[in-house]
Amino acid sequence: MDSVEIEALLTEISSFQASSAAEVEEFRVRFLGKKGVLRELFAKLKEADASSKRELGLLINKVKESAEQKITALSNYGADEDSLFEDLDPTLPGSTHHLGTRHPISIVKNRMCEIFERIGFKISEGPEIETDWYNFSALNIPEDHPARDMQDTFFLQTDPDILLRTHTSPQQIRVMESTEPPIRIICPGRVYRNETISARAHCIFHQIEGLYIDENVSFADLKHTLFHFTKEMFGEETKTRFRPSYFPFTEPSAEMDISCLICKGKGCSVCKNSGWVEILGCGMVDPTVLENCKIDSKKYAGFAFGLGVERPAMLTYRINDIRLFFENDIRFLKQFQSA
Ligand code: DAH
Repeated sequence: MDSVEIEALLTEISSFQASSAAEVEEFRVRFLGKKGVLRELFAKLKEADASSKRELGLLINKVKESAEQKITALSNYGADEDSLFEDLDPTLPGSTHHLGTRHPISIVKNRMCEIFERIGFKISEGPEIETDWYNFSALNIPEDHPARDMQDTFFLQTDPDILLRTHTSPQQIRVMESTEPPIRIICPGRVYRNETISARAHCIFHQIEGLYIDENVSFADLKHTLFHFTKEMFGEETKTRFRPSYFPFTEPSAEMDISCLICKGKGCSVCKNSGWVEILGCGMVDPTVLENCKIDSKKYAGFAFGLGVERPAMLTYRINDIRLFFENDIRFLKQFQSA
């Protein structure tokens, strides 16, 4: 044993690095263990020449100190590392973050809105809790009018003037009251009716209201707008037909059907063998409604329509039960991807 040998050990200690607690332990055993390097050095020291004993003794003590210091330093680091990765099994597959998908109703509603936005309609959203005036009276549906029975309404028990809107038409009134024509808006939103819930009907559903008010607006403009919408939304080959109808807020009024997307008009259970599916109500805004909103009905005319969202969504995605839209079942929802 000479001082060069011991100096080499000091260099080994100072440059030692460990990447786990096991390596630190191995190092400890090598230097400080029962059969370790230091035991051996002290044993050899006994046999050393008296002349070099003092110098070697000091060096060996240095080795002991630096080995102990190194272990203290590394064992803190090693412990942290270990506790950090204690439960980590690097062979397990990683946890993936699932990207959510849009609700099918939102996908269809957004597509519908975009088609109208591209031809100049602006979006206007209104409250779901409405007053009698906006939901009924201003739309030419006075109290005791049989038309109120057409829509089973949820009223607030303590104040029957407050209700959940039964259609998106009240938003027409809100915009007409506050805006000078020309007006060109669409109003998407949720509506409520006190209906028995079944595969085909729900107490909550969605509509998109459309309104166009200007000078010289005609029924031809209404038809052209809706034809354009149908082709964009459902495809060039989709046919449309208008049936005369009645709504208190439009005169004349119509309902529009499209050829069934499932059977292409041949007749199936979805279209009840008629080949046609109704998707909206529409008409020329009744002059009384314009006057209710202080719009000069001699100068201005307009058309309006109320488009359902659930039925087109059911046709598009071949969904046969409307309740699926409101159950929030992740297995159902994750099947829909939007751009
Ligand atoms: N609000 C009607 C409903 O929910 C739908 C409707 C029909 C809206 C004709 C309109 C319209 O704007 O002109 O049944």
